[in-house]
Amino acid sequence: MKQQLENIESEAIKETSSCDSIKGLDDLRVKFLGKKGELTAILKQMGKLSAEERPVIGQLANKIRQDIENVITEKMNELKEKEQAAKIAAESIDITLPGKPQSLGKLHPLSIVENEIKEIFMGMGFSVADGPEVEYDYYNFEALNLPPDHPARDTQDTFYITDNILLRTQTSSVQVHVMENQKPPIRIISPGRVYRSDAVDATHSPIFHQIEGLVVDKGITMADLKGTLETLMKKLYGDDCKIRLRPHHFPFTEPSCEVDISCYMCGGKGCSVCKGEGYIELLGAGMVHPKVLAGCGIDTEIYSGFAFGLGLERMVTARYDISDMRLLYENDLRFLEQF
Ligand code: DAH
Repeated sequence: MKQQLENIESEAIKETSSCDSIKGLDDLRVKFLGKKGELTAILKQMGKLSAEERPVIGQLANKIRQDIENVITEKMNELKEKEQAAKIAAESIDITLPGKPQSLGKLHPLSIVENEIKEIFMGMGFSVADGPEVEYDYYNFEALNLPPDHPARDTQDTFYITDNILLRTQTSSVQVHVMENQKPPIRIISPGRVYRSDAVDATHSPIFHQIEGLVVDKGITMADLKGTLETLMKKLYGDDCKIRLRPHHFPFTEPSCEVDISCYMCGGKGCSVCKGEGYIELLGAGMVHPKVLAGCGIDTEIYSGFAFGLGLERMVTARYDISDMRLLYENDLRFLEQF
């Protein structure tokens, strides 16, 4: 019987060590230690033994039961640990994998320069005014001293919705809205889209952007206009930038001028960018015509004002040395990513 017990032990140890599943170990426990197991079967025959043999065999059987129990438990722990490690390995994230790049958008060059210009004017105490792009003839032309059939209307042909309503050709219309609604002192700029029925080429587009400026107060002179524009241009194009005022005509200003900046390429010597001129034309300006002020209910005996209108596209192409204005509207990322 002793021999049988030892055989069971060695058999159990052998089978346990070669078992590689938890389910398999459970089966082994039943097979060797269960109620109908091999060890129990042997112990049932204890009654056949002599009184001296019984305690000896009993002790041995208990020791073997304990040994088998220990071996199976140990193996069970080992398999559970392995299973846990495999689960962790399967669920882990490989943080060394390269991530998916997210490309960040940026501002369009027109927005970049517009924001810069707004910032500069706000630093000089201007606020930003908005006005409608669909406009009455009155605000776009008539109130600006451009009555029906005025020849200057020909240079600003636009898109009409009715005889009386059109897409604005200039942000100057905002001057009238502001003066109708606000008492001097007035100091505003007004950026926005304008429309003209021009064919598209390197320097023309039926939609483009202007930034209007208007200052109305007591004692405003052309010197204020010049100082304001000089400050703007030096901040935008650097301290070496010079401005030049040339006499011109606009119906809504008197006197009127066109304003040029010294060429950013050659500094004024003359080159291909400025076509030998040394200067580049950027905007129109002047002292607000008394008819315009009076039409908006402003007393011209007390107040005077200056105004200007600059073409944003022109400022951007000059700033970044862009040869064709169409590039600004094509949404080609190869172009836009450069800013
Ligand atoms: N509105 C003019 C244009 O589109 C530009 C302009 C000229 C605006 C003189 C002004 C100004 O305010 O005083 O050509």
